[in-house]
Amino acid sequence: MPDDFPLQVQTPDALMLFGFWYRALPTGQLRRGQLAKTMLLEQPLVIGRDRQGQAFALRDACPHRGMPLSCGQFDGQQIECSYHGWRFDAHSGQCQLIPSLVPDQMLKIDRIYAGSYPCEERDGFVWVFIPDPGPAGAGFPKPAPAPTPAPEIPKFSEHYKLAYLTADLPCSVDHGIIGLMDPAHGPFVHQAWWWRTQSSIHEKQKNFEPIPYGFRMSAHTPSSNSAPYKLLRLYADADSITTTIDFVLPNLRSEIIRAGKYWFSSLTTVTPITRNQCHIDVVAAWNLFRWIPFGPQLLKFVFAKFVEQDRRTMELQSEGLKHNPHLMLIDDADRPAKWYFGLKNAMLEMKKNGGEFRHPMSGPVTLRWRS
Ligand code: FES
Ligand SMILES: [Fe+2]
Repeated sequence: MPDDFPLQVQTPDALMLFGFWYRALPTGQLRRGQLAKTMLLEQPLVIGRDRQGQAFALRDACPHRGMPLSCGQFDGQQIECSYHGWRFDAHSGQCQLIPSLVPDQMLKIDRIYAGSYPCEERDGFVWVFIPDPGPAGAGFPKPAPAPTPAPEIPKFSEHYKLAYLTADLPCSVDHGIIGLMDPAHGPFVHQAWWWRTQSSIHEKQKNFEPIPYGFRMSAHTPSSNSAPYKLLRLYADADSITTTIDFVLPNLRSEIIRAGKYWFSSLTTVTPITRNQCHIDVVAAWNLFRWIPFGPQLLKFVFAKFVEQDRRTMELQSEGLKHNPHLMLIDDADRPAKWYFGLKNAMLEMKKNGGEFRHPMSGPVTLRWRS
């Protein structure tokens, strides 16, 4: 794979992967009978919660003349457009009423749909499935169900705690994702006196293996710089702790740390909003720390600090990226980023031409870097 950074690629559908579930917003931001405006993959959405508490997602544009449906009235079941009063079922998007029609005008309103997207709640977030775009200029058909359920955080006991963090990143989803998997920025971006210093940099060696639509950093004893690991060590034998980190298309990074009956599991996503804006959402579940008074707060503090350091770095980086500089990816530290681009291209290729998914990795690989 060439070292040139495939940044100057351009059609919108090559920038973002359609046909996947994406995190839209934390469920706490959505009250019964209310509407929230949001955007995913440059698609304006209105998300709401019906009278029964069930979430739904519609394209935020009336199929009549494009008025945002989020400007309309919602009675807990149907949305009424604020322009000419057309009414739509909140879940299916099917048109229910066109007030201007007189009785002998036979327009088949049940064939008219406001675009509706599969919508599920998982682990404190509303997820929306963004399908592959239909033919240009065509209206929205009857909605189809998503081919898979929304992703979920793996959990290993009945009782657990859940927390999330979210931040906007002023960069493309690609920069957000490779920033997330990049091991070499740690000593420079994530310094803190209570955490680590630049001088703690040392050589590391990790094994990776291909998994369907992604890759795995094989089970290993976690880096001594990893946040949950530092906390776990407080009450588990260091050698019994193992961690596995997976990246799977389109944007899912999951990390599982286990030590005997204790576990910590997180699912981080970087979600494209527009071509140069995304958000990162970290959701973690665990059954640790129940006997440590400040465990969860401490963990949240550490994560919030990290995410803020990454956000600030990407904000500064976006200044540098404005004028399209030439970029490079080097071995071995940027190899995961190369795999990401390889996976994404393989997915785009498969969507375009059909055929098999051509995984960029042919087998297990050991990478070495200093961080
Ligand atoms: S634009 Fe919505 S009813 Fe006319
Ligand atoms: Fe980071």
